[in-house]
Amino acid sequence: MTILITAGPTREAIDPVRFLTNRSSGKMGYALARTAAEQGHRVILISGPTDLDVPDRVDFIPVESTMEMYAAVEHRIAKADVAIFAAAVADYRPAHVSEEKIKKTGGTMTLELVRNPDILGSARNQFAYQGVLVGFAAETEDLEENARSKLESKGCDLVVANDVSRKDIGFDVNDNEVLLVFPDRTEQPPKDTKQHLAHIILEHIIELTPVGGPN
Ligand code: C5P
Repeated sequence: MTILITAGPTREAIDPVRFLTNRSSGKMGYALARTAAEQGHRVILISGPTDLDVPDRVDFIPVESTMEMYAAVEHRIAKADVAIFAAAVADYRPAHVSEEKIKKTGGTMTLELVRNPDILGSARNQFAYQGVLVGFAAETEDLEENARSKLESKGCDLVVANDVSRKDIGFDVNDNEVLLVFPDRTEQPPKDTKQHLAHIILEHIIELTPVGGPN
């Protein structure tokens, strides 16, 4: 199967030397990409900047901004049987990118931000994608409820939810504990390394595909 994965943070430029970003390490998305490639799937990994080694045998598409990630997904998603959106995409970007380095002037400075497109939210509508769709939800409260509303509003088959208020799991660490929120049920595998959880998550995802399912 062909599996498209987004991973890592995005960078939203302010001027030639500054950008807005977030604490995503990309570890969960890369672990999924590595595992899927090891299992013989064709993997398209569309990633924001990370410190990680690119897994062997993946089609690697490096991007920086949300707009670049959006365009990369739009071009390739039709080929995918499974699309997994593990990237931590910036919701907003600076309204204007200064061509010159911004100089300090007064004691305060206001940065105007505009909404970025929702890449996952565009999959079913703008991109007319019909394959298996998996989103991630990083939450600090009401984990299951928020994940379920994302599942429904974005037309996902699965949302993988993790609690980013905990220091021992989630952003930038090797371990994770996730809730797997499906339209008809929720499952909670035990806390584990991201690499091992990637196997478990992928097994569930493959079961959702026509070839992986019981029929
Ligand atoms: O709504 P929220 O941003 O929390 O949704 C998280 C999910 O949506 C993740 O799967 C993330 O990769 C995806 N997302 C996206 N484009 C955005 C924002 C989030 O693909 N602009």
